[in-house]
Amino acid sequence: MELVDSPQETYDIIGGLDKQINEIREAVELPMNSPKLFQDIGIDPPKGVLLHGPPGTGKTLLAKAVAHETNAHFMRVVGSELVQKYIGEGARLVRELFDLAKKKAPTIIFIDEIDAVGASRTEANTSGDREVQRTLMQLLAGMDGFENRGDVKIIGATNRIDILDRALLRPGRFDRIIEIPLPNETGRLSILKVHSRKLTVHEDVDLAAVARVTDGKNGADLRAICMEAGMFAIRKKQSAITQEDFVAAIAKVGLDFNRGPVDVEGAMFA
Ligand SMILES: Nc1ncnc2c1ncn2[C@@H]1O[C@H](COP(=O)(O)OP(=O)(O)OP(=O)(O)O)[C@@H](O)[C@H]1O
Ligand SMILES: [Mg+2]
Repeated sequence: MELVDSPQETYDIIGGLDKQINEIREAVELPMNSPKLFQDIGIDPPKGVLLHGPPGTGKTLLAKAVAHETNAHFMRVVGSELVQKYIGEGARLVRELFDLAKKKAPTIIFIDEIDAVGASRTEANTSGDREVQRTLMQLLAGMDGFENRGDVKIIGATNRIDILDRALLRPGRFDRIIEIPLPNETGRLSILKVHSRKLTVHEDVDLAAVARVTDGKNGADLRAICMEAGMFAIRKKQSAITQEDFVAAIAKVGLDFNRGPVDVEGAMFA
């Protein structure tokens, strides 16, 4: 378990998720920073926000950035850390997590990769499965144990929303669901801009062209392309990264600059 006063991540290092950033700001940042707005109008802000979507698209990044913008304490726990060997141990950890969050409030509890504890309870056959279920029950009870208007918020993240127990998604628990999809071409361009901000790039570099041929790649892949391009430039002792380096980097992550995604199977028999 990790207790951080405030993560370093900010919104400006996230590319292509403007809509999602606005949604999470409204659901988490606004009620924490201006609770009176909600009191005066008389509505309850969401208690929990679930971020879901494919791997490497910026879910963890987004949760950290929203915590940065509030003055809340930030507690991050990864779902698998709550899955323990001994009976009752996972549930105890969850109880302690919520107790500490209340004591330290305002707090954002971030349960990353929540599917490890939040999978549907229908097929619990082994004693291990039953132990995970007990942990999940404690998590549901914990979420019920504080007020919507209170100063504890929960953010969950998963790339398997399809297997999550429906009880987690009921009103009063994760009542705001935000999808974080793979980036489109415009999104890829803004992610590439973020990751090349600190790089020394030659004026011939055309990031829009890189964005065009990287269909299907996520933010983590695009970051890797920028780093690889930098490595090519270093190996050749250049003073700046050139378009050629980007083309080589794209090839290295399994794409063909001229054709877009490489057909891996076709390539094997070519
Ligand atoms: N939208 C984005 N903008 C900028 N960088 C990104 C973006 N998405 C991913 N990245 C880069 O990829 C890294 C991994 O992203 P992150 O950990 O947020 O993905 P995730 O959605 O939580 O993935 P997983 O589902 O595998 O946990 C980030 O640290 C960042 O460098
Ligand atoms: Mg993550």
